[in-house]
Amino acid sequence: MSPRTPARLLATIALFALTAAVGRPAGASKVEKLPFGQAGGKAVDLYVLTDSGGMVAKVMTYGATLTELDTPDRSGDLGDVVLGFPTLDGYLAKEPYFGATVGRVGNRIARGRFTLDGHTYQLATNDGPNHLHGGLKGFDKVVWDAEVVPGPAPSVRFTYLSPDGEEGYPGNCRVSVVYTIANSDELRLDYTVTTDRDTPVNVTNHSYFNLGGAEKGGILGHVVALNADRYTVVDATLIPTGELRPVKGTPMDFRLPTAIGEHIKEVGGNPVGYDHNFVVNGPAGQLNLVGSVFEPNSGRAMEVSSTEPGVQFYSGNFLDGTITGKRGVTYRQYWGLALETQHFPDAMNHDNFLSDVLKAGTTYRSTTIYRFSVRPTGQIAGGKN
Ligand code: BGC
Repeated sequence: MSPRTPARLLATIALFALTAAVGRPAGASKVEKLPFGQAGGKAVDLYVLTDSGGMVAKVMTYGATLTELDTPDRSGDLGDVVLGFPTLDGYLAKEPYFGATVGRVGNRIARGRFTLDGHTYQLATNDGPNHLHGGLKGFDKVVWDAEVVPGPAPSVRFTYLSPDGEEGYPGNCRVSVVYTIANSDELRLDYTVTTDRDTPVNVTNHSYFNLGGAEKGGILGHVVALNADRYTVVDATLIPTGELRPVKGTPMDFRLPTAIGEHIKEVGGNPVGYDHNFVVNGPAGQLNLVGSVFEPNSGRAMEVSSTEPGVQFYSGNFLDGTITGKRGVTYRQYWGLALETQHFPDAMNHDNFLSDVLKAGTTYRSTTIYRFSVRPTGQIAGGKN
């Protein structure tokens, strides 16, 4: 045996152990750019971020939209954990913001109206009487610019210049979102926004997660924990009344891990289900744990942390089987869940909510991290949740 054999043997054992741990050989991290069609006469590109550990995120320049996210299950097999379409056409048709970056103000503004610096603005209304997710043509329906961010982690920056008056909003607003696969197990989203006039800003990502894989079933068996003692009570059009109500003793109580299906019927609403903003515990502006999701069959778990003070937990209530997505799967009610980290809905009309206003010349920064792991069979809780 040569003196170098033990080292080589150790290296082989280490490589085998790594391969066994993740179920596949590690490769190099990379970012590829592929053509993905055209929207409004503009070319749309798809960026494929592949991490050396195997995780893959696909993001297109239309809407800075996450179209696919592959993470390993308990056996190490990669599977896609977000809803979406195989081609651009699906996204160009009427669809419920699958994977999109939404803004200028995500979530609702009552009657699309607010007063800022003594002027009352009327925005586009696109959700009954209200303004939703930036209006008729929000950030989700425009083609963004993109550039690869150099560095060891796969990372792409998407930027969009939203002109003064777009959808009724004041000010030229430059928004960027950087998608990064960090630490081989996190999808990290960093937002930066600047403006030349005071304007409301509340950008978020609208991915619908299905950790078991959408071809296997819906999300009612997913076990959710939320780091939230209170939620914002809403009226029939999902506009907050202003009340922050304790979750204790209500179907909103996810302080301990709870299957989504357990109390969903008691939530009410039309259609029935979760579509509420929860008040994240912890100091605003710092990275706080938002919550976690666990899918017992695949073993996949996702932990969400964010600098945002709220999270809209949406259980896919409006999905109704009329949309067929990737791999030919029909998306029925409760087929995906969204955890939209954000300022509270209609903050422009509630003085007791953290303000949406971005002052001219200042910078809005926001970070949200989705961290993926697997848990053994039978274990529903993990970490603090
Ligand atoms: C809203 C839902 C809406 C969904 C898709 C969610 O953020 O809260 O009410 O149906 O987005 O538009």
